[in-house]
Amino acid sequence: MLTHCDFIYAGESTKFQMPFINLAVVPEFGSSCSVPARIGHVRAAELILLGAPFDARRAAELGLVTQVVSDKDVLARATETAGKLAAKPAAALQASKRLMKQPFREQIKAAMKAENEEFSAQVRSEDAKEALTAFLESASLTSRGTSNLQRPHRRDRQHRVNAGNEMTMDKPMNVCVLVGSLRKASLNGMLANALISLAPSSMKLDIVEIGQLPLFNEDLETAAPPAPWTAFRQRVKAADAVLFVTPEYNRSVPAVLKNALDVGSRPYGSSVWDRKPGAIVSGSPGAIGAFGANHHLRQSLVFLNVPTMQQPEAYVSHADKLFDEQGKLVSDGTRKFLQAFMQAFANWVETVRSQGQRI
Ligand SMILES: Cc1cc2nc3c(=O)[nH]c(=O)nc-3n(C[C@H](O)[C@H](O)[C@H](O)COP(=O)(O)O)c2cc1C
Repeated sequence: MLTHCDFIYAGESTKFQMPFINLAVVPEFGSSCSVPARIGHVRAAELILLGAPFDARRAAELGLVTQVVSDKDVLARATETAGKLAAKPAAALQASKRLMKQPFREQIKAAMKAENEEFSAQVRSEDAKEALTAFLESASLTSRGTSNLQRPHRRDRQHRVNAGNEMTMDKPMNVCVLVGSLRKASLNGMLANALISLAPSSMKLDIVEIGQLPLFNEDLETAAPPAPWTAFRQRVKAADAVLFVTPEYNRSVPAVLKNALDVGSRPYGSSVWDRKPGAIVSGSPGAIGAFGANHHLRQSLVFLNVPTMQQPEAYVSHADKLFDEQGKLVSDGTRKFLQAFMQAFANWVETVRSQGQRI
């Protein structure tokens, strides 16, 4: 667990753990410094060096969480606090937070630098390989039940460490495909189907519908938001990556796709896009292949922290000439290009995922 948040609400059934030592690596994101600073060395040693799980009540005793609330009230409680904060004078609030954090800033930066160096060294060790392999094997056995085994980030659970110490996936990546056009005969829909059929076997891609999502309206962001929003958020959150295939409307991203981005980005702090590797293909009957939409989409993805593949770029021009009446691709050159694009995307997703929490 990390300690950088100002307000931390834990559901009563929450279990915490600092699993680093058990995985033969070291703490990260400054926690080797911030946890002892917050709770004292002796108590921090118990959490970091023993790596045993502890419950929400213990976390509250240690001063690691603000409050323990019933599981069903976590979001409402956090939203209530966010509302109170939003009502404060913003500049004074930000300045106060800066002042509170400032004395520790350099310490945390130095700790993170040292942690990164140690982490890089430790993760290559035989101990780490053994620990991760053992963990991954036990995680697959326990994924259907409860266990006090170490269960770090989902992406880590889906990796195996091979002899060359590279991360490779042992099951297909689950990729959401979002198409920015709703029309039945959409060229971008055809493009999406072509991309799906040309993807390497390491990828499993599904088109996730976005036309049914109610227009984003903050008034609807209550404890019971619209069901299509929730289903969409869960679907994207469960994905390993996201592929956007979009036309350009008036030199920008079609509203339906922007709406899906906005829906997935909220509630604040729970964005489903965060650190989800992505790629963009844009298509148009025009000569510049919806370049404008492609790059406006990239602008939002920068803020949403979607590590988006840079090369190859895919601006599919004259898309109306590329498919037959059944929607099948007729151009060999485009087929080769799209196939290479999907292989590059698979490599990109693996690269991003192998970085785990460090992006
Ligand atoms: C509202 C609207 C705006 C459009 N603006 C652009 C544009 O800026 N650039 C472009 O290349 N095509 C533009 N087009 C044409 C689309 O590229 C074309 O309709 C395309 O086939 C839409 O993609 P789809 O076939 O996947 O539905 C626009 C179409 C619509 C309906």
